Amino acid sequence: MTETAARIIDGKAVAAAVRAEVAARTATLGYRPGLAVVLVGDDPASAIYVRNKDRAANAVGIAARTIPLPASVAEAELLAVIARLNADASVDGILVQLPLPPQVRARAVIEAIDPAKDVDGFHPINVGRLHEGVATLVPCTPLGVMKLLAAAGVSLRGARALVLGRSSIVGKPMAALLTAADATVTVAHSRTRDLPAECRRAEVLVAAVGRAELVRGDWIANDATVIDVGINRLADGRLVGDVAYDEAAAVAGAITPVPGGVGPMTIACLLENTLRAAAARRSRPG
Ligand code: GUN
Repeated sequence: MTETAARIIDGKAVAAAVRAEVAARTATLGYRPGLAVVLVGDDPASAIYVRNKDRAANAVGIAARTIPLPASVAEAELLAVIARLNADASVDGILVQLPLPPQVRARAVIEAIDPAKDVDGFHPINVGRLHEGVATLVPCTPLGVMKLLAAAGVSLRGARALVLGRSSIVGKPMAALLTAADATVTVAHSRTRDLPAECRRAEVLVAAVGRAELVRGDWIANDATVIDVGINRLADGRLVGDVAYDEAAAVAGAITPVPGGVGPMTIACLLENTLRAAAARRSRPG
């Protein structure tokens, strides 16, 4: 299938605009916001993500540094690193790349991060604020999806939205943001009965399950907006999303490509969160 009815939502272009805005605002601050990225172990994918975050941050005037720790690190040692970063006035944002090795409880680490420096928005205080509709640091990938929907001119008020996936990193915060934007939100997952039928009802579909090309063209309503958060590598080396792109593009009204859709937005939003954390922390009295 080669016909493409859908408008392509260009994540690279929207991300470039966000980065340019962050760079411009950072240049007016009079200081460089600091970002500390903690990388545990030597998972190649995590190493690439972290290198990209570090580079993108430095390119917009954020002083980013990566703190590499061995895969064998003890939880107490990692918690001591976090405590040091919490106390370091030059550090505005702290990000611990996930996943963590089994001897370290990710939850304990996330809860040890100062919520004011939690640029991933994973701390329960920030999660709670998001669900209460209070302004806070919001997880980068769902925040990026909201910016893509805005850039594409998608109206969310009263719209039927389906979030496919219920992870803490994407699905749950995504549902909260769409709800706050007045969409009528359904969260579907691996135990959902008749997933294709649920998807077909959606005017806005956000797929974030990490299963290559799970969502087929005939699961998608005519003219729906399809946001594909998945990045899956096939045995032949190709990168594909959670949506069968060519099939979906023939029916959808608008769709994000993989790569070049949501991916670039995650890092751009991390930079924006770091700027936001810096501005909020450094304007606080005392
Ligand atoms: N691993 C996969 N996605 C993410 C993310 O958004 N933040 C962090 N810290 N780790 C991740």
